[in-house]
Amino acid sequence: MTSIPIDTLLDRIRTRDARIGVIGLGYVGLPLAVEFARAGFTVTGFDVDAKKAEQINCGKSYIPDVAELDLAECVRLRKLSATTDMSELGAMDAIDICVPTPLRKTRDPNLSYVVQAVEAVAATLKRGQLVILESTTYPGTTDEVVQPMLEEKGLRADVDFFLAFSPERVDPGNQQFTTHNIPKIVGGVGEHSTKAAAALYGATVNAVVPVTSTRVAEMVKLLENTFRAVNIGLVNEIALMSHKMGIDVWEVIDAAKTKPFGFMPFYPGPGLGGHCIPIDPYYLSWKARQTGFECRFIELAGHVNSAMPAYVVERIGDALNTARKPINGSRVHLLGVAYKRDVSDIRESPALDVIELLQHRGATLSYSDPYVPELRHNGEALTAIDEAAALREQPDCIVICTDHSVFDYEPFIESGVLIVDTRNALKGRSGKTIFRL
Ligand SMILES: NC(=O)c1ccc[n+]([C@@H]2O[C@H](COP(=O)([O-])OP(=O)(O)OC[C@H]3O[C@@H](n4cnc5c(N)ncnc54)[C@H](O)[C@@H]3O)[C@@H](O)[C@H]2O)c1
Repeated sequence: MTSIPIDTLLDRIRTRDARIGVIGLGYVGLPLAVEFARAGFTVTGFDVDAKKAEQINCGKSYIPDVAELDLAECVRLRKLSATTDMSELGAMDAIDICVPTPLRKTRDPNLSYVVQAVEAVAATLKRGQLVILESTTYPGTTDEVVQPMLEEKGLRADVDFFLAFSPERVDPGNQQFTTHNIPKIVGGVGEHSTKAAAALYGATVNAVVPVTSTRVAEMVKLLENTFRAVNIGLVNEIALMSHKMGIDVWEVIDAAKTKPFGFMPFYPGPGLGGHCIPIDPYYLSWKARQTGFECRFIELAGHVNSAMPAYVVERIGDALNTARKPINGSRVHLLGVAYKRDVSDIRESPALDVIELLQHRGATLSYSDPYVPELRHNGEALTAIDEAAALREQPDCIVICTDHSVFDYEPFIESGVLIVDTRNALKGRSGKTIFRL
């Protein structure tokens, strides 16, 4: 009796004979590839970037959350290799797509990377293969965009091959929750697809949460990230009004979070950053608009959050004003330019907006960031200097944009330089030279 594809695939997953392909070896794809390899699968990573493939094959990690020792061990045991040759996709039993999903300038979804990756999968799609989309995207992408592309040559989803969506929920820099112990949501285009995807992740991560469709799985991720964007928007607005009322918003949040139920602390800051929170909610509002629905919370939060860099610059102006100095001609030094603490990612970092606004007003800029040695933005290049060098330059104002844990603020406080602290990094410290958001 010939076995039906689902049984063959489940068997190969159980015995770890299944070969896994991961397309897109960035912040999401590389940790996932290593996780599959550590679970005993033979993994091939696919990327258009030949340098990344080369580094992986040399056992070198370029993602801080992936320990080089782990990666090198997987490569040494021949459990992990990488290539730019997409024709090898045909030899995989399961393929995970982890390519970028940015926004266009018009804030519309840019699915071109997903489409390109799916075209490559479709070119070699074979009976019994499992394809999983991990890239964050709007509800409907998997069944409206991916499925028809894969079915073009006649194979049927959930019958001849399997198709699921599983959002990636990893939080770069988070030591406590990693790819391995964050529960994995899976939703297939049909029962068999959900079962196959759940089996693959079940063999790899601690917990799997199956849902009834790809759309539910897609929406879960957007709910999570919209929840963050909206709550950060709310707390940013509370910060602006607290300042007007002479209230320390940080003290308010610390006290409010003692409530053991019904409150979850979010913190104000210089604006949203990273590849997810500033972008994902617009995927949702774009899709909702297609159905005639206007997402007011998302738009309002976007409005408040995107105004934060300008507010930071206003506060820098206020600080300089106390020393009778204009922004124009002042030397402003930024501590931290990455989008959040202890990461090297500067995508959508609010520090970039703060820099641009300050440059526009004629400030002379420098920055320190141990994770970002060089900064290229809008055609301009800046090179990081260390904190001691920054102090020697005698800046007019220091702006704490990202509170990396390695920063020592004491020398700056002692020097008496004006400090604008957008992260409450100087918690408990006060004085005429310290300006908190
Ligand atoms: N970074 C995060 O914290 C995070 C968290 C959860 C979800 N996500 C989502 O995961 C997805 C990937 O994000 P990321 O941060 O890993 O992006 P990334 O830019 O770090 O990595 C993407 C990789 O895909 C490669 N790539 C692009 N097009 C390709 C193609 N056609 N074929 C093969 N490789 C291709 C790029 O060269 C790059 O190495 C996005 O949808 C993102 O929203 C990211």
